[in-house]
Amino acid sequence: MLGLLGYTNLGHCLRARRFTPPPQMDGRVAVVTGATSGLGQAAAAGFVALGAHVILVVRDEQRGERVRAEIGPDASTVARCDVSSLADVRALAAALPAEIEVLVHNAGVLPPKLTRTDEGHELTFATNVLGPFLLTALLAGRTRRVVNVSSGGMYTKKLDVDALLARGEAGDADDFSGTRAYANTKRAEVVLTELWAQRLDPARTVVHAMHPGWADTPGLQASLPGFRRVMRPLLRDARAGADTIVWLGAAAEPLRNSGRFWLDRAPQPTHYVPWTRESASDRARLWDVCATATGA
Ligand SMILES: NC(=O)c1ccc[n+]([C@@H]2O[C@H](COP(=O)([O-])OP(=O)(O)OC[C@H]3O[C@@H](n4cnc5c(N)ncnc54)[C@H](OP(=O)(O)O)[C@@H]3O)[C@@H](O)[C@H]2O)c1
Repeated sequence: MLGLLGYTNLGHCLRARRFTPPPQMDGRVAVVTGATSGLGQAAAAGFVALGAHVILVVRDEQRGERVRAEIGPDASTVARCDVSSLADVRALAAALPAEIEVLVHNAGVLPPKLTRTDEGHELTFATNVLGPFLLTALLAGRTRRVVNVSSGGMYTKKLDVDALLARGEAGDADDFSGTRAYANTKRAEVVLTELWAQRLDPARTVVHAMHPGWADTPGLQASLPGFRRVMRPLLRDARAGADTIVWLGAAAEPLRNSGRFWLDRAPQPTHYVPWTRESASDRARLWDVCATATGA
């Protein structure tokens, strides 16, 4: 009913009138990637406030320690991992605890130009999709909930597996669009959420995707400065954007289903127009591409 206004602070405030505090998480472990900034930091603080121990997964340990000091040094630890590196992700998985209540794939990028990781993958695909896919595969047996932080931007995009691979025309540096690559990876995250939910026993692991609405974070400021300038009075703060991440990690309702896409604690459709619907073969191909690239 609210349409795009629902992504703003107004939408959050209207819906939040019905929210109740999520249950306590004492003794539970929350793992949050990209915890040095914006939504990741806000989600980590939210989990700490519920009594969880939070593992801040960061690529810069000094920044991680600053966040740890801020949100609660006794309730958090820092783990270094560049999630765009599959080698780093494997090392992280080996170092994480045997029981994890919630794993939040929050780290995300929108690079201005075509960039490849040392392992040869396009950076947006490596950070937003491949690293999270591998970590989910390695931790699924010991994680109760997985939360993929996607974006409302994915509504504009039909899944394009060739573009994810950034080969041929789509891999041409002149032809590369960061916003297109970003929306494509965010669409892929939602499709993979559904595919993981089909493959994993929900009694052991549930997998959800969410989008935070439009939140005023350093990431938004850097990647969409014009949009931020115009929309600033309407943007949510990071805490409001991260509210659904924390709720998915703590509340009972997300355990009763798996594979949904959420905004402000309510399930959302994954398509608004027919032309963004991917075929069954594209869905299967996405899975195969991720499994092959990660060896998972
Ligand atoms: N803000 C919004 O309105 C909005 C809307 C839709 C979706 N989202 C999604 O929400 C998530 C968080 O966004 P944000 O707005 O909070 O952005 P942000 O302020 O830029 O934070 C991104 C975080 O990801 C980390 N990160 C990036 N690449 C990484 C890597 N390779 N390995 C480990 N960490 C890495 C960054 O670490 P450094 O501190 O080292 O850079 C930072 O902590 C993203 O997935 C984004 O797509 C945000």
